[in-house]
Amino acid sequence: MTDTLTLRRPDDWHLHLRDGAMLRAVLPESARDFARAIIMPNLVPPVVTGADAARYRDRILAALPEGSGFTPLMTLYLTEETDPADVAAAHANGLITAVKLYPAGATTNSASGVSNFDNVRGVLETMAEIGLPLCFHGEVTDPSVDIFDREDVFLDTVLDPLRRATPGLKVTLEHVTTSQGVDYITQADGEIAGTITTHHLMINRNHILAGGIRPHYYCLPVAKRATHQEALRRAATSGNPRFFLGTDSAPHLDAAKETACGCAGCFTATNTLSCLAHVFEEEGALDRLEGFTSLNGPAHYGLPANEDTITLVKSATPVDYPAQIATPNGPVTLFDPGHPLFWRVT
Ligand code: DOR
Ligand code: ZN
Repeated sequence: MTDTLTLRRPDDWHLHLRDGAMLRAVLPESARDFARAIIMPNLVPPVVTGADAARYRDRILAALPEGSGFTPLMTLYLTEETDPADVAAAHANGLITAVKLYPAGATTNSASGVSNFDNVRGVLETMAEIGLPLCFHGEVTDPSVDIFDREDVFLDTVLDPLRRATPGLKVTLEHVTTSQGVDYITQADGEIAGTITTHHLMINRNHILAGGIRPHYYCLPVAKRATHQEALRRAATSGNPRFFLGTDSAPHLDAAKETACGCAGCFTATNTLSCLAHVFEEEGALDRLEGFTSLNGPAHYGLPANEDTITLVKSATPVDYPAQIATPNGPVTLFDPGHPLFWRVT
């Protein structure tokens, strides 16, 4: 039986760090295991300009634990007012790694996102020219579309037309949650990849709703039925380089989740690698974990894989994770996969 596993140090290609006290509380949880992470720009107000991103990067670096080598890979939040020249300058001086597109109203702090895609055509064309990737939140926002169908409808009505209209644009379809999303990424021409979260590999919609409502499993895109979870597991463990880890670890205070209208987001930074080793072992694919966590992402983003390594060991007794991370404003509950975990990073 395999009980130790050494991997190139992983990266997280989709991470919410927030700001202020929350940033200081959650950043060490990612910096412990990950070398780099794509940092989501959906702060309040959002990170829209190169100058915003430079200041946010400085706040992240200032909040890092002493001696940490963690590198935040910054993104800009695309609005209909975004200036292509500002984006190009931020890319040219190495400040940003990608631009994030939230359809307006799709999720947490997405109100400044894009309603009319014609209004961002110039920025997208510039990005295609300079080779700057687009990270796309893949859901339509039409309130008449069932929430469980919003990713599927997005593929044909938004993603595919946009990619055809902007040849050469490198796209990351973020947090894929459906078999249709998996199929699109697998079959599409051109430069496209999909991130998969830890939690979407471990839960389906029954976990959220059957036997009581579990707000800490509520995120966007919402987890779909079990057949989609199985498709995500197959994609993640397939070895297909178009799929890699983006945790979408998204901390909210418990008070904001355990309420009549709870926020979307699962906080998985602390135990993601334990969870992933568990899933990949269940799928008989531990030999493919490194591709998913450490190789496929850098290849898509045109960056070198990390040189140093981490080692996971499997113990006979469950790993003892805290239920919550403390912040000065209250606790943040850690994602609970609902069963013990035995792999841990040494
Ligand atoms: O569940 C989510 N939480 N999905 C998102 O797209 C945003 C995120 C957040 O910022 O809380
Ligand atoms: Zn996210």
